[in-house]
Amino acid sequence: MWRSQGLFFMIAILIQACKSDVNVTTDGSRRAKLLIYGSDYDDKPINGEEFDFIIVGAGSAGSAIANRLSEIAQWKILLLEAGYPPVEVHDMPILAPVFQFTPYNWKNLMEKQDYMSLGLEDQRMSWPRGKGIGGSSLINYMIHVRGNRLDYDKWAAMGNPGWSYDDLLPYFMKLEETRTRHQDSQYRGHEGYVKVEDVPIRTRSAETFIEALQQMGYSYVDYNGYQQIGVSYVQATLQDSRRCSAEKAYLRKAQERGNLKIIKKALVTKVIINPITLEAEGVEYERDGMYYTAKARKEVILSAGAFHSPQLLMLSGIGPRYHLSELDIPVLKDLPVGQKMYDHLSFPELVITLNESIVFKASSFGINEFKQYFSNQPSLISTLGGVEALAYLNLNLTNRNPTYPDVELIFMGGGLHSDFGLITRKTFRITDRMYNRIWKPIENENACQILPMLVHPKSYGYIKLKSKDPHVQPKLYGNYLTDAYNEDVRTFIASIRAIQEIIQTPAFQRYNAQLLDTPVPGCELFRFDSDPYWECALRHLAVTLHHQVATCKMGPKYDPEAIVDSSLRVYGIKRLRVADASVIPLPVTAHTNVPAYMIGEKASDIIKQDYMYSPYPNY
Ligand SMILES: Cc1cc2nc3c(=O)[nH]c(=O)nc-3n(C[C@H](O)[C@H](O)[C@H](O)COP(=O)(O)OP(=O)(O)OC[C@H]3O[C@@H](n4cnc5c(N)ncnc54)[C@H](O)[C@@H]3O)c2cc1C
Ligand SMILES: *[C@@H]1O[C@H](CO)[C@@H](O)[C@H](O)[C@H]1NC(C)=O
Ligand SMILES: *[C@@H]1O[C@H](CO)[C@@H](O)[C@H](O)[C@H]1NC(C)=O
Ligand SMILES: *[C@@H]1O[C@H](CO)[C@@H](O)[C@H](O)[C@H]1NC(C)=O
Repeated sequence: MWRSQGLFFMIAILIQACKSDVNVTTDGSRRAKLLIYGSDYDDKPINGEEFDFIIVGAGSAGSAIANRLSEIAQWKILLLEAGYPPVEVHDMPILAPVFQFTPYNWKNLMEKQDYMSLGLEDQRMSWPRGKGIGGSSLINYMIHVRGNRLDYDKWAAMGNPGWSYDDLLPYFMKLEETRTRHQDSQYRGHEGYVKVEDVPIRTRSAETFIEALQQMGYSYVDYNGYQQIGVSYVQATLQDSRRCSAEKAYLRKAQERGNLKIIKKALVTKVIINPITLEAEGVEYERDGMYYTAKARKEVILSAGAFHSPQLLMLSGIGPRYHLSELDIPVLKDLPVGQKMYDHLSFPELVITLNESIVFKASSFGINEFKQYFSNQPSLISTLGGVEALAYLNLNLTNRNPTYPDVELIFMGGGLHSDFGLITRKTFRITDRMYNRIWKPIENENACQILPMLVHPKSYGYIKLKSKDPHVQPKLYGNYLTDAYNEDVRTFIASIRAIQEIIQTPAFQRYNAQLLDTPVPGCELFRFDSDPYWECALRHLAVTLHHQVATCKMGPKYDPEAIVDSSLRVYGIKRLRVADASVIPLPVTAHTNVPAYMIGEKASDIIKQDYMYSPYPNY
């Protein structure tokens, strides 16, 4: 009975979202509606008009840039976004995974890879990306992490002046307003647009996880502060226990500025580049089957994300010569666009059973939760799809620096069984065969999960165009666990061993914690818990946590992989920049939303400097 109740309410709220238009917002900034495809941002398309800056993509980085550039009243800014504005249900953190099944996701699939994704539908991993005003920040899990000081110091050491942690700290602080109880406040911002809060409710299993790591000698830390190694409750990109998306943070108020025009449902199809002067002059976009152009007096800025910024560059003639020639795209600049793509792989199969009810249960999810949520009481609705705590460990494998993690552990006070396999495991495309064998038998038990995430993978993939039609999605290749020394697999296995130690601590043993020992179907031939067994399990069920980066890598001129310079200008093309997660040159010890905001904030300052102090930036 309780099972259908939980589901019923989840579905009911979505149906309500589609039909009703009652106000439920408490932020008071505007009259929010529950209408699907919110009616705000209802600008008509325009043709041939001239702007100072054209920004492509209203995601995490693009929204920050649109806000910061439109602070300059004399500048006229156009922001073009392929998707729709958010609706009220986007605010509900617990629904995070649900949006992957809606038009707010581009719904890409990774190309099939040999010996990988063997337990997933069609052996193809789901690679979601947000599509809407707010971009991926509308569908993400709201985990707020900056990354490690050394991540950024490496960027600077690679030849990118201005990108060391000390250079970037002012931007990490500028972007956020930290409201968490525990914080290293001298490292944290308190006046920014992006709000950071604690999740208002916690399970006893999460407390147990924190205690277990402390028993192993790790400290409780602000992982966005002085020291990242350690354990902490998750810091969440929430405002009053509701999702704080890029749209809410950066655009909702700024759209009222007279100099910022936002056009939704506008799919940019190419950057218009003068083939003689190699200057970006504007963009072409499509809306409802009609094609339009917009001109940029100063610059075009691509913030279309790690899949679509490289796609647009290639469609516009900037990319690997041999590849563009294959598709008959005239080459304006030969650059290794999309040739390297790093990502964060994770393993969602480690289930811990407990002998007491200290985890999230579908039975506690009902009408009361909604009542509490709408009356601003702590509620299950405000949990990040079940994610409660994080730990950063140095396993001494990818590096020997005791302050630099090689794995992140994500603690969930529930698991893929908590919604009866109906939503979260489907976002990962885990097959019925896998689910029914591993999770189905524990649906009514007390179980939580710990997901290890490899933060500095050695393997990397790439992206290619499938067609020169801008409506066709690019081909995405993950190439996971393929590094020459199998270091990625070894790091994963070491993290599984660390999780086994966590389970053995007195904190967890108080609840008779056990690692679920159902063999992964397809791996029965290996001795359970041997290293080859875990490698087999990884090759069946490892999945992405959606942190694809480096497809438009930032680097110095002498870096043969670089697409943009340290001012984010595309090499060889004038008046064109890329500013989003795709410029991140190496994987960071973070989830990539905060880094994308930081890039947006930093890019805006670079652009302001270029144009405020000289009418002709230094090309
Ligand atoms: C399911 C999921 C969960 C995640 N969870 C977390 C998390 O918990 N914490 C975290 O830190 N990170 C998380 N991430 C990652 C993080 O959200 C992204 O890395 C970040 O939002 C990327 O920002 P961006 O500006 O690079 O691109 P995006 O935010 O993806 O924005 C790109 C925008 O450009 C638009 N666009 C693309 N092509 C075109 C075109 N041709 N014309 C017009 N517009 C176009 C897109 O529709 C989109 O709105 C998650 C990502 C996903 C997908
Ligand atoms: C919605 O909010 C607006 C502004 O606060 C108010 O005028 C209106 O009456 C509300 N509508 C409903 C259905 O509550
Ligand atoms: C890491 O390895 C070094 C060198 O082998 C060793 O001195 C150090 O104690 C190790 N640290 C941990 C935490 O295992
Ligand atoms: C759970 O297991 C622990 C350790 O074995 C035991 O002490 C405790 O009584 C058990 N609790 C319940 C509710 O069975």
